[in-house]
Formats: sequence, C-alpha cells, structure tokens
Amino acid sequence: MYSGDGMDLINLYYQHRSIRIFQDRELPWERLNELIKASIHGTSSSGNLNAYSIIVSRKKEARERLWEIHGEQDFIKQAPCTLTFLADYHRTRLWLKEQGAQDGFDDFLCFLVAAFDAVLLSQSLALACEAEGWGICYMGTTLFAMAELKEFLRLPPTVVPVTSMVIGYPAENPAARSRLPLEAYIHDEYYHEYDDADLQRLYSQRNKDFTVRYGTNSEILKEFSRHGIENLAQFYTSPLKYFPPSMRDYAEKIREYLHSNDFDRRD
Ligand SMILES: Cc1cc2nc3c(=O)[nH]c(=O)nc-3n(C[C@H](O)[C@H](O)[C@H](O)COP(=O)(O)O)c2cc1C
Repeated sequence: MYSGDGMDLINLYYQHRSIRIFQDRELPWERLNELIKASIHGTSSSGNLNAYSIIVSRKKEARERLWEIHGEQDFIKQAPCTLTFLADYHRTRLWLKEQGAQDGFDDFLCFLVAAFDAVLLSQSLALACEAEGWGICYMGTTLFAMAELKEFLRLPPTVVPVTSMVIGYPAENPAARSRLPLEAYIHDEYYHEYDDADLQRLYSQRNKDFTVRYGTNSEILKEFSRHGIENLAQFYTSPLKYFPPSMRDYAEKIREYLHSNDFDRRD
C-alpha cells in the first residue's frame, strides 16, 4: 500500500498547465513505454477488459498529417509525439472469436464504456508525464476528425479515437488557468439549483480573466465585435468557439461513425 501523505500528487495537480510550445527534443521512448505500462496498471477499467489502445505517432510525416487533421494546431509539429487514445473492443472481440465465445461489445453502451476506459487511461498517463517534467496538451479535435483519423491510422471496426495528446519537453511556463470556486462543483446531498446571483458570483473571476486576456488585443476585439461578442459566455457559443450548428454537424458525423463502425447495434 502506498504510504505517502498524498501531498506529492496534490502538488503535481496544482503544477498542471496545458503546454502548447515544446522544445525540439526527442523523448526517451523507453521511459514513455514504462509510463504507459504504469498508467495501465494504475487505472481502473470496466471488467478489466482494458478496452483501449494507444497509437504513438513519432514520425515527422505522421505528425504533419495529424497537424492537418487536427485543425493545424502548431504544437503537433513541435512536440516529438502525439498519442491517439482509442476506445477499442476490436482486440477483445477477436479474442472472443478465437476462444469460441459469443460476439458482443458492439453497441452504444459498449462504446461509452470503452471511451471511459480510454479517457481514464489518458489522464493517468498525462499525470505520469507531468510528474516526469514533460508537458502535455489534449486535443478535442479528435472527436471532430474521427473519420479522418480512422482512415489515416487504419482503424478496424469497434475502434474509435476518443482523445489525443501531444507530449514533449515544455518550452513555456504559462500561468495556471483558473477554475471556478469549489462550491460551483459540489452539491451537498441533492442538486442545488443556481440562481443568477450564484452564477454572477461563481463566474466573476472567469469573466474578469477573459477581459484581462483579450481586452487589449485590438485584432481579437475587432473579431469579437464582428460577431457581437461582449463577454466570455457569448464567445463560447459564437462561431469562433463551440458554435451550436457546427457542433451539431460534428455530433451527426460521430453518430454516423459509430453506426458504420459496429458500435450501434440495436437488434
Ligand atoms: C478533452 C480535451 C480537449 C482539449 N482540446 C484542446 C485542443 O484541441 N487544443 C488546445 O489547445 N487545448 C485543448 N485542450 C486543453 C484545454 O484548453 C485546457 O485543458 C483548458 O483550457 C484548461 O487549461 P489547463 O489545462 O492549462 O489548466 C483540451 C483539453 C481537454 C481535456
């Protein structure tokens, strides 16, 4: 049993920042494998089926293609590797077949379970990398581009890319991004509905951070005014961020992907 007082881990949490500028330097790949192995060991998994795989992309050409697929986020070209985390029942299903068991794990519930397994693993590994002094940044673009990733990474059915992460030696030390006050996240016994006063209190720091971050950048302010954006909340659902019609289009693509990749069995 671990006998530390937990402070190392808590300090590590408070050191977390997503890193988007990296040194031009290889990682010690054997060490990365050790961290992946430890993360798999240290992460709970539904039924211990470990319904995930990781694709490690190190080659320059692969990272350039991933850069295109992930909306040209420049850190992908800088960082020495990108990991794509796959919700994966393909391997399990092959094993079932080989052992003469009934086929399964090909419905939406199983997709969710595999996606949870994969994302839990990704965060264990993220922390292990940060403990090593490496920097990481997730890429939500994975969900938007799952069909392109399937083709590029040659994924079989019941395999879905659910998140990606770049890893490398940091070349920046950005300020920590704020979180809401703890009371925003915790409900005592029952769900406590938020009224306007709660929302103003809970989001006041975040609203201020937004003004400080963008308030003096005339290019960005021009763009905001073109879209009628006056505050952070309006920014989030504007065409510059998570625009609802675009998000719904992506959601439709994901449904289609699950359907055509055997993760949508209904009979
Ligand atoms: C699932 C997920 C997807 C993300 N996608 C991106 C991304 O595509 N590009 C990016 O620059 N940051 C991405 N991030 C990083 C978030 O922007 C970042 O975690 C958030 O702003 C909080 O900042 P912090 O991680 O430095 O605390 C993602 C984070 C998560 C958890």
